[in-house]
Parts: sequence; structure tokens; C-alpha cells
Amino acid sequence: MQLKIKDLAETAIMTALIIILGFFPPIPLGFLPVPIVIQNLGIMLAGVILGAKKGTISVTLFLLMVLLGMPFLTGQTGGLSAFCSPSGGYLIAWLFTPFLIGWLLDHFKIHHFSMTLVIIWLVGVFLLDGFGAVFLAFYTHASIKATLIANLVFFPGDTLKALIASFIGPKIRKALHTY
Ligand code: BTN
Repeated sequence: MQLKIKDLAETAIMTALIIILGFFPPIPLGFLPVPIVIQNLGIMLAGVILGAKKGTISVTLFLLMVLLGMPFLTGQTGGLSAFCSPSGGYLIAWLFTPFLIGWLLDHFKIHHFSMTLVIIWLVGVFLLDGFGAVFLAFYTHASIKATLIANLVFFPGDTLKALIASFIGPKIRKALHTY
């Protein structure tokens, strides 16, 4: 598939949306050096609305700008140090999340709300948070079991984000005929 002007615009708008979601303040957790953020809702939406290819491009663009030092993460942070912080694993997982969500929804031709929710939840909550927790264990020299258990604190909020993405994502995708 060739990228057309419409594709470029959609990709850029998605990147902008992820940046905007970063302006919502983080909720710090005393017992875990990773905050609750809203920005990962944008990562889920990228996969649902734009599909595997364009969703991944939009998130890659976002992460590249962060890597280059632009303060687009929640709390207006950025730079290489963000990837080498306790949150690094989540940021790395953000890269493959839209690909997996988009590919699974497309490949299995999933249109039903509950199945969409299952895919988004498995990839955007279970896998993403699991990957982040394993990275966090290595980073903090804690046990993987301990960080996995601590990560459960993200599940209620991230499940709510998955619900929102499952509800509005397919509607926006249908209205825009994004893929
Ligand atoms: C950053 O801004 O440095 C990245 C923060 C990553 C936070 C992760 S994303 C998945 C999980 N859910 C949350 O609300 N927070 C963590």
C-alpha cells in the first residue's frame, strides 16, 4: 500500500493526538516509579483507527520525537533518558502495540465490540503492562513476580482506556475509512 496524502494526514493527526494526551497530568504512585497516564489511550487508538501500518508509523514518529528530546511525554519529559528510565519498557512496548492491535483486528476481520475489546485488552493492557513490568524488574533489580503484581495497579485504568478505545476507535475508523 502506498502512503497517500490522506494517509499522511491521518498519521500526523494521530501523532498529534498522542502528543495532546500527554498534556494530561500524570498520577504518581508512591510504591511504583511509573505513573498512571492517559497517553497510552492514544497508543491503543492508533492501532484501532489506523491499523497496523499507519498506526505503527504514527507511534514511531511520536517516539522518535521523544527520543530526540521533544517534551511530549506526560509531564512534559522526553529524550533518551526516558527510554532508560523505569518507564522505558512501556515506551518500547508502545512501538509494537498498534501493530499487533491493528494486525489482529484486520487479519481476523474483527468488528464486534466485545472481540475488539478482547484484542485491545490482551495487547494494550496485558502484553504492554507485562512487558513494562519485566523491563522494570531488570531496571530496579526487583523480582519479575513483584513488578508484575505491582503492575496490577494499572489494570483498572488501562481496562477503562481499552473500553474507550473499543467504543470510539471503530466508529472513527468507519467514519474516516482509514483502512
Ligand atoms: C512516560 O510518560 O514516561 C511513560 C509512562 C508509561 C506509563 C505506563 S503505560 C501502561 C501503564 N498504564 C499507565 O497508566 N501507566 C503505565
